[in-house]
Amino acid sequence: MLKNIEVTQDLLDYIYNHTHPLHPVQKDILTHNKTLGDIQRMQISEIQGHFLQLIIKINNVKSCLEIGTFTGFSTLTMALALPNGGKIITLDHDKKIVHVAKNFFKKGKLENKIETVISPALDTLKKFSKEEKKFDLIFIDADKGNYKNYYELSLNLINEKALIIFDNVLWHGNVSKKTVTDKQTNLMRDFNKYIKNDNRVEKVILPLGDGLTICRRV
Ligand SMILES: C[S@@+](CC[C@H](N)C(=O)[O-])C[C@H]1O[C@@H](n2cnc3c(N)ncnc32)[C@H](O)[C@@H]1O
Repeated sequence: MLKNIEVTQDLLDYIYNHTHPLHPVQKDILTHNKTLGDIQRMQISEIQGHFLQLIIKINNVKSCLEIGTFTGFSTLTMALALPNGGKIITLDHDKKIVHVAKNFFKKGKLENKIETVISPALDTLKKFSKEEKKFDLIFIDADKGNYKNYYELSLNLINEKALIIFDNVLWHGNVSKKTVTDKQTNLMRDFNKYIKNDNRVEKVILPLGDGLTICRRV
């Protein structure tokens, strides 16, 4: 028997009403993103945010790396869960959008926990690799065509018990629909297959938001 239930908007509202409330600046970012039209879908969902916070707390995460800042919802959400002295470095190549995000970080008084890097993420990851930087959590939510490259570079950037988490791996649910064959969907299928066949990590796909893959080195 199918054990999963359909997550309607009503049910999501119920879930949010029975989960601990968002920080005022998280709410501000959500309100701002609603004014952006179609691109607001770039932001992770609230439930994904709660999940990332839980992972940070139970895995004792002190250092995070994020690829894909956008207006800062996921960054700020993760920063809020970090302990004192914890830090998140977030990468994005779009100067204008990072400016918007930084204003929210300032409003949340989280500038000491958040470092933004404006540059193509691949360049930054290569630089971090040379510097032998290590992180407890890497969250990847940027251009899907580079997911494999981000993954390979991230494997050199993680501490022993670290997780690498990818967003959008179910691609609006299209990955399992045989009749859908557009480029983005195929990219995501190809990436999912790549991770599935990689014995260096154990992995699970969770149907949260647009789908999260969680990987841990074995
Ligand atoms: C899906 S959005 C990130 C959403 C964010 N995690 C959130 O929840 O609000 C993807 C972001 O990745 C950035 N991006 C896309 N390609 C990139 C690249 N090659 N290097 C750096 N950033 C990139 C985009 O500018 C965009 O802001």
